[in-house]
Amino acid sequence: MGYIGKRSAQPIILGALKRLEYRGYDSCGFAVLSNGKIEVFKERGSIDELEKALSGVNVGGTVGVGHTRWATHGEPSRRNAHPHTDCKGDIAVVHNGIIENFQHLRETLAAEGHVFRSDTDTEVVAHLVERYYNGNLEEAVRRALHEVKGSYALAILHKADEKIVAARSRSPLVLGVGDSEFFVASDVPALLEHTNRVVHLEDGDLVIITREGFRIENGGNVVPRKMETVLWSIEDAERGGYEHFMLKEIHETPRVIENTLATHLRDGVLGGVDLDLDVPQSSEILMVACGTSFHAALVGKYVIEELASVPVRVELASEFNYATTPLSRETLVVGITQSGETADTLSALKRAKAAGCATLAITNVLGSSVTRLADRIIYTRAGPEICVAATKTFTAQLITLYLLALHFSSIELAERQKMLKELRRLPTAVQRVLDAEDEIKEVSGRITSYENVFFIGRGISFPVALEGALKLKEISYIHAEGYAAGELKHGPFALLTEETPVVAVVAPDRTYDIMLNNIKEVKARKPPVIAVADEHDEEIEKYVDFVIRTSHVEPIFSAITNSVALQLLAYYAAKERGCEIDKPRNLAKSVTVE
Ligand code: G6P
Repeated sequence: MGYIGKRSAQPIILGALKRLEYRGYDSCGFAVLSNGKIEVFKERGSIDELEKALSGVNVGGTVGVGHTRWATHGEPSRRNAHPHTDCKGDIAVVHNGIIENFQHLRETLAAEGHVFRSDTDTEVVAHLVERYYNGNLEEAVRRALHEVKGSYALAILHKADEKIVAARSRSPLVLGVGDSEFFVASDVPALLEHTNRVVHLEDGDLVIITREGFRIENGGNVVPRKMETVLWSIEDAERGGYEHFMLKEIHETPRVIENTLATHLRDGVLGGVDLDLDVPQSSEILMVACGTSFHAALVGKYVIEELASVPVRVELASEFNYATTPLSRETLVVGITQSGETADTLSALKRAKAAGCATLAITNVLGSSVTRLADRIIYTRAGPEICVAATKTFTAQLITLYLLALHFSSIELAERQKMLKELRRLPTAVQRVLDAEDEIKEVSGRITSYENVFFIGRGISFPVALEGALKLKEISYIHAEGYAAGELKHGPFALLTEETPVVAVVAPDRTYDIMLNNIKEVKARKPPVIAVADEHDEEIEKYVDFVIRTSHVEPIFSAITNSVALQLLAYYAAKERGCEIDKPRNLAKSVTVE
């Protein structure tokens, strides 16, 4: 967030940051230009805590930038909170995104004598601007950004200039236009209290903002950008215009996949995957998790066994903690938890450590409890998830598990490269599933009036079916069960009638023919059958009543595209039933009791 105008910057920035707290909440800070000096204030925790620390003091100044952080590089702490400054404290930078080549830049700058005071990727930007500053801030920022790879929305101040220089690349940034005052922010809700006239900046845009006006450049040329009037309320705007956080978060999936890949794929690293992990000497991997993360683990088992030929056992953390199953020290125990706080998963990892096993955690939250417990951590990069039902974090976990499988795998180079290429194609494939959401919405209408739905799948599609059923039941309150397709005849067949829809997840893999047989058996009992199937599958229509088509990907990656389709199916079913969606009854996002 940035402000330049005639009013005092501090209360405007802090008020705006409160509106952005849903994007980040582990630490925050701001910088203002006051009497020719940059004054920086930061705190771990919420904006309220920062305000408490300021105890009513307004540091003055009418130009400033601020930030609310959701840690990605470096634990949540005061020193890692933004703004970050250069060596002399003349330049202040706030940043949303990931500087992918920060390690290299940091080493180069440190060798030139720059002293770093945080663990963040962002700090390199402050030092780069310092390196190039020669009396002209925008010129220094231009040159600095030339060296930066990654995603960013940046707002930058220099003590000698009453201006803000902001830039955007693959992270949202919007300019707010008031009367002789201007705002820049990652999202519209930050501005709406002050203005509804906005300019959405585009990738590559650099904007120089003074009290007199602004100039937007792209590739060195001044470019025109349209001013728009926002008609949303602040609450609508927080959800980016989506009716629910769940829908917004599902729509963030392509970016989440990109971010997670950008963090863990590296040119020049053996095999392309850079997880900073030894390939285990372990004879076995044991995964422990709860809820949606447990389903991710089940997909992970399939993928790791297929690509790396290491046997994988998956246990519900809550069961594992009371089991007497012997644990061998040779077992690598992997805890999967998006929040990093689930009590059962933490206990399971403690039990594993006590037994002398190596532990690895996959989590979405930097500095969460699990990060202090496990020997090694791999972060997913999904950003904060507000809706109780996990969606984008599940996909990020799957991506991480594919990477883990490739990391452990000794498949041939050509095959590995093919897999990496497919992974990189996934954001586009998922986007195509999202683009077809109207069709999914229509199909969801076929299940909303029923009270029981079965989801079936085989192989990798079995956990996808489990997760599809979980999503549906938790947000639409329709009773849904996920089943291995071959198991239906061992019990659930007794329940199949015209009133019991069955959703069949069909991947074009070695389970395909037998899956068609299972669908035929189901159909004979009259339930309406909906298939989730590959767009190139020409057979499936003959077997089922409705088909949700998903983009063609290598079958092993169909877990991603099919899960996103099932998330949308659950969402639209819940919406049609008038459910609350983001906060389902009786459920919590983070379950910190056993
Ligand atoms: C709760 C949430 C689920 C989540 C589960 C495990 O039940 O509502 O969405 O899958 O906890 O959470 P974790 O943070 O460990 O992945």
